[in-house]
Amino acid sequence: MANTTGLTNITGRVIRISGPIIHASGMSGAGLFDVVEVGEKHILGEIVRIEDDVAVIQVYEDDTGLAVGAPAVTAGRPLSVELGPGLIGTIYDGIERPLQSLYQQDGAFMAVGSSGDALDRHKKWRFVPDAALSARIQGGEKVEAKPGMIVGEVAETRAVVCKIMVPPAGIRGVFSALAPEGDYDVKAVVARTTTGGEITLSQWWPVRKPRPSVQRLGAEQPLLTGQRVIDVFFPLSKGGTAAIPGGFGTGKTMTQHAVAKWCDAGVIIYIGCGERGNEMTDVLTEFPELIDPRTGRSLMERTILIANTSNMPVAAREVSIYTGVTLAEYYRDMGYDVAIMADSTSRWAEALRELSGRMEEMPAEEGFPAYLPTRLAEFYERAGRVKTLAGNEGSVSIIGAVSPPGGDFSEPVTQHTKRFIRCFWALDRELANARHYPAISWVDSYSEYADEVRPWWEKVDAYWDSARSGALELLKKEQRLAEIVRLIGADALPDNQKLILITADLIKNGFLQQNSFDDIDMYCTPAKQVGILSLIMEFYEKSLALLKRGLTMVQINELPLREHLARLKSEIKNDDEAALIAFGEEMRKTLDGLRR
Ligand SMILES: Nc1ncnc2c1ncn2[C@@H]1O[C@H](COP(=O)(O)OP(=O)(O)OP(=O)(O)O)[C@@H](O)[C@H]1O
Ligand SMILES: [Mg+2]
Repeated sequence: MANTTGLTNITGRVIRISGPIIHASGMSGAGLFDVVEVGEKHILGEIVRIEDDVAVIQVYEDDTGLAVGAPAVTAGRPLSVELGPGLIGTIYDGIERPLQSLYQQDGAFMAVGSSGDALDRHKKWRFVPDAALSARIQGGEKVEAKPGMIVGEVAETRAVVCKIMVPPAGIRGVFSALAPEGDYDVKAVVARTTTGGEITLSQWWPVRKPRPSVQRLGAEQPLLTGQRVIDVFFPLSKGGTAAIPGGFGTGKTMTQHAVAKWCDAGVIIYIGCGERGNEMTDVLTEFPELIDPRTGRSLMERTILIANTSNMPVAAREVSIYTGVTLAEYYRDMGYDVAIMADSTSRWAEALRELSGRMEEMPAEEGFPAYLPTRLAEFYERAGRVKTLAGNEGSVSIIGAVSPPGGDFSEPVTQHTKRFIRCFWALDRELANARHYPAISWVDSYSEYADEVRPWWEKVDAYWDSARSGALELLKKEQRLAEIVRLIGADALPDNQKLILITADLIKNGFLQQNSFDDIDMYCTPAKQVGILSLIMEFYEKSLALLKRGLTMVQINELPLREHLARLKSEIKNDDEAALIAFGEEMRKTLDGLRR
């Protein structure tokens, strides 16, 4: 990312250094968010404020040893990332420097000023030109090179085909040449236009600017996660936004891993903002070992990891979420559904707070800068399902973990995040303590996508909505009863209220709780999800009718049925719909057979 284009370079001098924030004078003419190289070591930075001829620069690398008077040279471009084949499977830092190859090159610590090309300059990729386009050009047709147009493709990994696109900006004219199938490196020109436009396998894009698309599309397609509490109770849409707030150790990371593993997105971008260095080491060692359940191969074949550790400058952490979302938009533009996990956005916000403090800005709530909500919005608003420039459909879904100090959701990062997300998966300390996982609270969580995805789900099972709202309603009733139970005990309740408690337990144990370590239960197909919940709700309705006819709760409780219902999730295989149907028939027969 450090190679410069050599356009309008402005050279100033460093006049003040405060950790990752540097002031340089003599910078008039430089633009906000221009990239700057500082000092002899060419430390990479970005202009975040300009006052007269003084530029305030945040640097992405360790600036120890930098002295006042050192040169600061603008690169004449905003902070940008390189996009092309080779991204998938790579672990980057917040400014897209590949960690693995830099570690190999520089030893344990990254050398300051290491350019560390994001994409391997020497690796050859098999480029296959678009057959139709190729035929048109060869047939002498004047085909205009439109932004976002797909000129060919490269098999990037076994799971991802990288479409080679005309960049969204900067190329004009009519195609004069399209390369034949062959092996090319990322800088090789594979298509040319009559006006001198050159299309290479890779392209650049500024991280703080959303990549363009033709049109935003609706949120009617769910992003399936195989996690019942999410898919049925609090569904996320493709192109949607969700937050997972939770106190220390409540399961934010586990939930994100489960979603990363099982969700039906073609590409996963995982942004790790660890507080402690070892937390990130866990991600770096564990994530590449995760197996994609669909292919049986490494999840890294469809994943890009962005890792921020505590020993990296905070500015790199601040920018990492924009880097991540830019990579996501690139694959979206090819027509993929992309899911971003950011763990945790609170660590990101702390980076923002530290930088703001160094710049001596007026702090707002809890020391966070007043622009915290703007920056959060700039991240979450880049989610969406769109019609791409090439005419395909693609989406970026964003799932951000939030770690409020002391688990207190009223703090600023959780509160502001809530304004920009539409799906809130609140992790509950009591559930986690009781080892009810995922510890997603059915009281505090919500999804504003439920109405939008309902038609999709009702094609899977017409009972989706009634089972869902029935179960949520019943859990609410149970919550109200809980207070009475605390005072007088469950035994004193009338039978119809006992039935509510029993069914609520079934919903919790037999449906909401899901064991990530159980071979069958770790993932649940849409049909099985609704199937189980419908059976539980049917058990409730039928039992209620029996009670009305004078049967007692003791009689119903004696049946082995109840325990069996709670075990369906891990007993019945995902593809065994017949077993669910058979269980339903058995249940009806048993209940109908009960006599006074
Ligand atoms: N779905 C789950 N299934 C089984 N165990 C789980 C699940 N979710 C969480 N756990 C348990 O809870 C522990 C803590 O989970 P996790 O590391 O995801 O929490 P966290 O909220 O990310 O914590 P931190 O605040 O430290 O980042 C896990 O090690 C695991 O034992
Ligand atoms: Mg965690």
